[in-house]
Amino acid sequence: MTVNDVRDYPFDQPKALEAPPEWAAARGCPVTHVRTPSGDVVGLVAGYDEARTLLSDPRFNRRLDREGAARTATTEDGGMYNRENKAMSELMGEGHRRYRRLISPAFTVKKMEAWRPRVQRMADDLLDAVLAKGAPVELRSEFALPLPVGVICALLGAPAEDEDKFSHWSEVMMTTTKYTQEEVDEARTEFVTYAAALVAEKRANPGEDLLSELTQISDSEDGRLSGEELIQTAVGVLIAGHETTSNAIIKMTALLLADRALYEAVVEDPSLVPGAVEESLRLDPVGGLGIPRFIYEDIEVGGERVPAGTTLFVNLSAADRDERKFPEPERFDATRPNAQQHLAFSAGPRFCIGQTLARVELQVVLDTFVRRLPGLRLRDTPDDLRIRTGVVATGLEELWVTW
Ligand code: HEM
Repeated sequence: MTVNDVRDYPFDQPKALEAPPEWAAARGCPVTHVRTPSGDVVGLVAGYDEARTLLSDPRFNRRLDREGAARTATTEDGGMYNRENKAMSELMGEGHRRYRRLISPAFTVKKMEAWRPRVQRMADDLLDAVLAKGAPVELRSEFALPLPVGVICALLGAPAEDEDKFSHWSEVMMTTTKYTQEEVDEARTEFVTYAAALVAEKRANPGEDLLSELTQISDSEDGRLSGEELIQTAVGVLIAGHETTSNAIIKMTALLLADRALYEAVVEDPSLVPGAVEESLRLDPVGGLGIPRFIYEDIEVGGERVPAGTTLFVNLSAADRDERKFPEPERFDATRPNAQQHLAFSAGPRFCIGQTLARVELQVVLDTFVRRLPGLRLRDTPDDLRIRTGVVATGLEELWVTW
């Protein structure tokens, strides 16, 4: 690939668990070019060092609602990154720092770790139901989606019976090609109305949950989280917290079962669970286009000039297979010493605020599987696995397992 080639996204990926060849090609230059489903061209950054440096630069963020920013979806508004949003990553500089300062105390490692026993109970209950149903089972619908959705509902104090609703709204809002503008607008309005009611309820009757804690911040003396920010935070966490984790559970399970010796090694030695989780995050085979950054002022990426007005996508999964950072990058190694330095949760000031909770969930799941389902295996061959397309959070369509 030369610097002037423009590749079409989504890339061809004949085997769902093997990285598309475009990733390795993209690592050959600091910035290559990709045409998104909207027809707009973006720059792609796929080298580990270049990716980390760019993600750590506080000047740039995911917001693509500025003049000249690329659209990434086929909807008229250009996609989820192009919509205006008054909270989270869309804030700039001091605004974002202030926002993270306010919400971070609710997401500390200690607080998220305290969820482990509850996540374990939820995982066990779901697995009881899976076992009662009998093999084969489609793991995404029966386990990998309900678990993170249940966790995020409990975390925010949202009623469990609303799970299906916001799962649907999230999927529609994350469309690249699957849904129409009308469907997006409807989902967005319903989601915001729902979140506003939830915030109002937590303000009136605060409970033990995270959203109640956040409303107390906003209602405290220096009251700095606005009502709008609270609503967008609720929507943001509901969206960010479940689809990604559900996909990660499926991809981790698929990777370990596709080469069953990997799974058996963890069955034999469950102390490998945390390492296997990190390695599955690093080796994400279906990482999508990546995370956008809109470049407001001229910069250099890996020595190459990138002019102001460029939309760059940092392809986290391609960067995580950079052999300059991870020797023998394609090999799954649950004891890899630096696996935790992967970029699956991004880096810099906007890194994933839910990463501890995501790790807790993935570790509980893998630990539970190897203890309770040592005979777990794929029903079909790895070549039968299909990639979900048309939405930002990419993953596998289905994962049928037996035991
Ligand atoms: C395996 C699961 C997950 C993955 C792979 C993941 C990945 C990411 C990534 C890559 C970003 C950074 C985007 C950027 O740099 O612009 C991010 C941000 C974020 N994530 Fe996660 N995430 C996961 C789970 C969660 C969970 C469980 C929660 C909530 C409890 C969550 C909440 C958030 C929030 C609120 C942000 C925005 C932070 C900001 O912009 O300041 N994520 N996530």
